[in-house]
Amino acid sequence: MNNEILNTMIWDEHGLPRSTAFDDQYFCKELGYEEALYVVCQGNDLRGRFSRLDPAVKGEFTFIETGFGTGLDFCCVWQLWAECAPPSWALHFISVELYPLAVEELVRALSLWPVLARQSRELAAQYRPPVSRGQGAGGIGNYLFADTRTRLTIVFDQVVPALAAIREKNLAPQGADAWSLDGFAPSRNPEMWSDAVFAGMAALSRTGTTLATFTVAGFVRRGLTARGFTVQRILGHGKKKNVLTGCFRTASGE
Ligand SMILES: C[S@@+](CC[C@H](N)C(=O)[O-])C[C@H]1O[C@@H](n2cnc3c(N)ncnc32)[C@H](O)[C@@H]1O
Repeated sequence: MNNEILNTMIWDEHGLPRSTAFDDQYFCKELGYEEALYVVCQGNDLRGRFSRLDPAVKGEFTFIETGFGTGLDFCCVWQLWAECAPPSWALHFISVELYPLAVEELVRALSLWPVLARQSRELAAQYRPPVSRGQGAGGIGNYLFADTRTRLTIVFDQVVPALAAIREKNLAPQGADAWSLDGFAPSRNPEMWSDAVFAGMAALSRTGTTLATFTVAGFVRRGLTARGFTVQRILGHGKKKNVLTGCFRTASGE
């Protein structure tokens, strides 16, 4: 593999992962972990929802993310799941990623958060991305963390076909319970925030499906609303003044 051509990730002067292709950071230096907890977990009310799952029922909670990156968001959701969810329930975390990091890069990025040492170690033991990155890399990674009843599926493809594959391959039979949208800043990577993405999300959502994202860009809010999500700006965390949460209104989305 020729990393110079295919690898769009570099380590910046603070030792943080940064995308050269999109001129954006994977997460914020001081607050990456707290932001993930605030935006992704709190924004979808995961602690409350995990804790309220009926222990008498055997079920699966499906979380879908756009942009796997370093796996930080996955590790945060997984950690919370292990802490709060009843043993009769399983977590299926599905993500999409066009430019997967190598396992050493993922480990180095996650080492910034000692609180996730266990998740990082267990993820690294299984995570095997395709050898090439970028368009056409393809493939689906399936990783099982049985002791926490957690399954991770990564569709290594461009976001729109990846969402279509989740549907066509019936990877999320009941659709998403919650979404996190994390594809770099919309102004720098509009492909991750297109109407085709929002339509793909709607097709994988049902009444009550929630979403959370760090961006409040107007075209993202309008695009999600047009596809059936009710969105609201809420107070942000750290440097972010506001972040966005939302809920799917109707099964048709129209
Ligand atoms: C901000 S990072 C995600 C951070 C991640 N959630 C984490 O926990 O580290 C955005 C990710 O979206 C991926 N990405 C960018 N454009 C994409 C596209 N068109 N399709 C799929 N993934 C894409 C990038 O490779 C990057 O890993």
